Amino acid sequence: MDINKLASVAQAMVADGKGLLAADESTGTIGKRFDTINVVSSADTRRDYRELLFKANDIEKFISGVILYDETIRQSASDGTSLVDLMLNKNIIPGIKVDTGAKPLAGSQNETVTEGLDGLAARVEEYVGLGAQFAKWRAVIKIGEDMPSGYAIHTNAHALARYAKICQEGGLVPIVEPEVLMDGVHDVEVCQHVTEETLNAVFGEIYAQGVELEAMILKPNMIIPGSDCVDTIDTLAIADRTVATLKRCVPAAVPGIMFLSGGQSEADATLNLNTMNAQNSNLPWKLSYSYGRALQASALKAWKGVKDNVVSAQKALTLRAKLNSEACKGNYLGE
Ligand code: 13P
Repeated sequence: MDINKLASVAQAMVADGKGLLAADESTGTIGKRFDTINVVSSADTRRDYRELLFKANDIEKFISGVILYDETIRQSASDGTSLVDLMLNKNIIPGIKVDTGAKPLAGSQNETVTEGLDGLAARVEEYVGLGAQFAKWRAVIKIGEDMPSGYAIHTNAHALARYAKICQEGGLVPIVEPEVLMDGVHDVEVCQHVTEETLNAVFGEIYAQGVELEAMILKPNMIIPGSDCVDTIDTLAIADRTVATLKRCVPAAVPGIMFLSGGQSEADATLNLNTMNAQNSNLPWKLSYSYGRALQASALKAWKGVKDNVVSAQKALTLRAKLNSEACKGNYLGE
């Protein structure tokens, strides 16, 4: 393991004005996205869609890397170029989701623990051989009646740190993603409290298991009210609470924090990231994006599975990436 090399990959992931495209939807999840545009999900349609995204003109100006799914990292574009080479030719860093999903947590009614540790070292070795330079693992923390339990937080934090250490040993920069879900009626204070408890547990495990902070990326949720909460909140309050939480919980040695969008609209995810960067200078870490839905929603709608729509879908993706790139610098001026 060459930690300096991993640390420089982590720095490249959060290069100025750049973020990640999360295109690592599992086969089930991308199927649900395709249902919304009446496209049948097959290995070919999934390849066509991902090829469209990665080939979008100028995307490399705003995107440092892409998170891939196991199927995608093995696929080739229509001209036979592997999708990984297509990215490398544009200076885009390939990454890979290595967890195998959130599964029911034994001893809990409604909570999950993310699985995928068995055989992980061997899979990391294979993914490095396929060109991956970073990895992602998503833990899911739910807010609701009697949730989250300390048990769910700690089992997920333990697994996240185990995953991160295995990746670093195998030569991948781990993206550590403890997602506190937006679903629910809870207010912003509850989200903040649960997120702080979660991040403290995660960084406790990261320390206990010897994960190198300089060679990892944190991918957290923003501090926002539940999607069914009746309160309204402005972007300044979201930015203040999110940055306060991160300052309390995330060591300064971590090079970058790349948010998930978590169900926020494209415009909200961009605005909130922008407000954080516009309101704060001299933060110890870069604040950037690793969005799935908030980068792809317009592009998916524009595409609809039709060849003639490919260029307009690509334009929609590049525009979203450009606006988020501006948000990384606090320069976003609105839609
Ligand atoms: P969203 O931005 O759609 O939340 O997806 C990001 C991601 O990678 C979730 O694991």
